[in-house]
Parts: sequence; structure tokens; C-alpha cells
Amino acid sequence: MKRTTVLLALLALTIMRASAQEKKIFSETPEQKEKRLAWWTSDRFGMFIHWGLYALPARHEWVQTREQIKNEDYKQYFDNFNPDLYNPREWAKAAKAAGMKYAVLTTKHHEGFCLFDSKFTDFKSTNTPIKKDLVKEWVEAFRAEGIKIGFYYSLIDWHHPDFTIDRSHPLRPKNEADFDQLNKGRDMSKYRTYLRNQVEELLTKYGKVDILWLDFSYPGKNGKDHNDWNSIELIKMVRKLQPGIIVNDRLDLRDYADGGDFVTPEQYKVAEWPKVNGVRVPWETCQTFSGSWGYYRDETTWKSVNQLLVLLIESVSKGGNLLLNVGPTARGKFDARANNALDGMGKWMELNSRSIYGCTQAPDQYVRPDNCLLTYNPQTKRLYVHLLNYPLQNFTLPGYKGKIKYAQFLHDGSEIRFSAPQGHGFKTGGLGENDLNLSLPVIKPDVEIPVIELILAD
Ligand code: GLC
Repeated sequence: MKRTTVLLALLALTIMRASAQEKKIFSETPEQKEKRLAWWTSDRFGMFIHWGLYALPARHEWVQTREQIKNEDYKQYFDNFNPDLYNPREWAKAAKAAGMKYAVLTTKHHEGFCLFDSKFTDFKSTNTPIKKDLVKEWVEAFRAEGIKIGFYYSLIDWHHPDFTIDRSHPLRPKNEADFDQLNKGRDMSKYRTYLRNQVEELLTKYGKVDILWLDFSYPGKNGKDHNDWNSIELIKMVRKLQPGIIVNDRLDLRDYADGGDFVTPEQYKVAEWPKVNGVRVPWETCQTFSGSWGYYRDETTWKSVNQLLVLLIESVSKGGNLLLNVGPTARGKFDARANNALDGMGKWMELNSRSIYGCTQAPDQYVRPDNCLLTYNPQTKRLYVHLLNYPLQNFTLPGYKGKIKYAQFLHDGSEIRFSAPQGHGFKTGGLGENDLNLSLPVIKPDVEIPVIELILAD
């Protein structure tokens, strides 16, 4: 009896879960969604840009809350914000040269400062010494380079007087009990209107916006969730104003199958293609060059070009995108470390981007050789073997006998000769009867990560 009750309860729970998964806000079909996301899924590589007043203190974009700085004291960064060397054409060219196809700019970060000329606040770039709508110039510059446009907009706002003080706010109290007292007079419904108005401005004043990055929700005690943003109404407005737009998943609408278009693993590599309810979903990992999103002068944990390339290739090899962040300086430039990283990636991408654009996870029938990452282009049906640790001359493709027609290095299009074992049961150096042996040059080609392009047998 007891067991039956438990089983019934489990069944009910499963049904409830299943129906929760089917909850939807829009009527778009999976095929329509795939089409809407097609350019993004193919482009694979984008630039994130975190830029705001925090570029002045230059010690993390969360500096205001980390150091619990009051607005009166934070104001000095506003008064001194003057990025006189800002030239977004230069940024756009750097992004393009690195192989990035889309870019996402922080129009407003958690500090509340707007890089655009919003009519709903004075806390904006046009009121600082630079006196410009920096978003406007940015959009024009990136579009001119053929780069798709993305806006990051922080749901959080430490500057707005109606945004209630929560656990991550600079004015957070030491004692739990003091939250209520501190929040007297703050009215989230007014903030919700502000947020909605600003998102509307961003989506109506700058032409076509390809991506919207809303960041972020932190449900639970003294946190903020979808109720605080009125997320459903917000996303409805977004999709109405810009029907083709792609929206990230941080509105706290996980109960809805279409509460966000892609998942956003941040600062870590996924073990495999992320799934929601057992189904593979579009995903993009966002990552920094070093340990901060905003410009951080004294941070030294910068990733090497090799690490960054592996990150990009590995993301694509698991069906995902990489959004790689630059934090420009207070003068409006990318610093030397960022430029080096971008240059290094660009050098590789110039010759090897064919293994990235339009590519995805390889079909299971192609085994991943040791120390390699595979990507696959379903259109051209080509397979890309990325050699992370350059092998000796004889390189085995396990189980590939009869599966490939031609092999070449991607960077220079030079043939790579291959052979199958001769006769029955012939084995040498670990070569099994279904393996192929590729004959590579002893000297590693002069590319950071050499790629073998395999033209597959039909
Ligand atoms: C986190 C951080 C934020 C950064 C974002 C990028 O949400 O709060 O500083 O903008 O990640 O994904």
C-alpha cells in the first residue's frame, strides 16, 4: 500500500514536471526557433565588452559592491569618466580580425551607469565629460564591420533609488533584520517601469538588435527573481519590438521552454553538450581573458592564446558558442594584453576558421583520437581533427578505414597521405584493421593548433 502511494506520488510528480516543461510563452515551433538562431549557431564566436565607470577604479566591475562604496563616493568615477581615445571602429576591426562575428556590449551594468542617452536617467555617458552616446557610436562602428549587434543590459541596478537593497547590493546591511528598514521608501514597481522603459529605448532607438543579454536573477532570500523584473511581460515586449532577436536565459524563466533562447555557462567548460529535460539546447559559454569582466589593471591570471583557442574549439566540438570578453580601459582602448590575445586568436582563425564557422559536434561514429578535438560541418560534411599535442609522424585515426576520401592540413591545404593496414589482421604500432594511419610531417606546422581537414567518403 505504502509502496503504491509512493509510486503514485512519483508518477504525479513526473507528470507535473512534464507539463511544466511544456509551458510556453510564445507559439514559435522548434523549427522556427532553429531558423531564428541559425546565424548565431553558425557564427560560433563573439566578443563580449564590459565597459562602464568601473574601468576607472580598474579593480573589477563589481568594485562598488565588493568595497561597499556609496553612490556619493562612486560619483567621482562618473565625474571623471572621459574615454578620450574611444574609437569603436578600432574595437570592431580588432573583433573582426580575431574572427568574432557578433559582439555584445554592456549598455548598463550593475552599477546602473548607462552608456546610452536614456531619457529616463541622468546617470549616463552624455552627462559625463565625454558627453556622447557611446552605444550609438558603437553600434554604427560594429555594423560597419559586418558584426552582429548585441546589447547586455543589467537587470540589477545599484544606483536606482527604487531598486531594493538585496544581498548583493553595495548598501546591504550586516544584519538580516535590517533589510526591511533600509528598504522603506524603495519601490520595485517603479524600478520595473524604469527597466522596461530602458529596454524599450534600447530596442527602438538603435535599429536592428540581434542579441539581448539580460543579466541576472538570483532567486531566494534577499535575492531577485522573475517577479522583480516582471520577466514574462518583459520578454514579450522584447520579442514584439525585435521579432528576430536572440535572448539569453537569465530572466529566471526556467519553467518555460522558451523563457530564454540559449543557456549561458559562465567561466567554465561544459563536460558535454548541455541538455534541458534530456534534449540538447543551444548554448554559449561566456569567458574572460583574465579573472574580471571589467578592466582590471592589476589582475594577472591571463589565459594563453593556446588556452583560448582550445576553449573556442572545445566549445564548438560540443555544439556551442564562445563569447569572449574584453574590458576596455578608462581611456577607451583595449589594453596590450587583450590585443595580444585577440591577435593570437586572429592569426589562427585566419587560416583555420573553417573548422569553427558552421561547425558543431561530430557524429558519434567518428571516434576522437587521443589529444584531439573534433568538429564537423554538417553542410560540407567535413570533419576537423584539431591536434592539441602535436603527434609523431604516424597518427592513427581509430576506426576510420573506408570513412575518408582525402585528408589535408587546413592552414595550407597540403595533402596528408594516409594508409590502411595491409592484408588481414595486420597490426603495427597499435593500428587495428579498421584504423587509418596518417603520415604527418615530423616538424609541427607553424600554427598554434594544427587542424587536419578530412573529406569524408559519401
Ligand atoms: C555575472 C556578473 C557580471 C558579468 C556577467 C557576465 O553575472 O555579475 O559582472 O557581467 O556575469 O556573464
